[in-house]
Amino acid sequence: MTKRRIILGSDHAGYPLKEKCLAHLQEAGYECEDVGTHSRQSCDYPRFAALVCNRVLETGSSGVLICGTGLGMSMSANRFPGIRAALCFNEYSAGMARQHNDANILCLGARVIGEDLALAVLERFLQTGFQGGRHEERISLMDRMGSNISA
Ligand code: RB5
Repeated sequence: MTKRRIILGSDHAGYPLKEKCLAHLQEAGYECEDVGTHSRQSCDYPRFAALVCNRVLETGSSGVLICGTGLGMSMSANRFPGIRAALCFNEYSAGMARQHNDANILCLGARVIGEDLALAVLERFLQTGFQGGRHEERISLMDRMGSNISA
């Protein structure tokens, strides 16, 4: 089976971990697209969040966004309608982000998670499917948040 495409992006703080994730995914046979950044030189995380979000929306692929804490990337990414970005620190939350929330972007905080754990979180995220069922309606409610939903 052909493995799906993964779009990766980071700022300077996330750059070293992005390189590790990229190498790991390529080794595992994933087709990867790296939108940058490509060095440790200081840069603005929302720019890379936007690049990844646009590609995820265009292609239907999964995305990975990495900054120092993962917070700026997740806040930026979740401004894009159709993006469900999940900041995960352990394998359980990565699995649940897929099963219940159908997250299409994984955010990681390079300064708060070790490399081995980050790769395990990434694997769990990519290998877990959406459960559907009752979660479909909740995802749809999220998508309608801007248009005055009521309980
Ligand atoms: C960069 O110093 C840092 O602010 C950024 O990587 C991220 O953690 C922001 O949320």
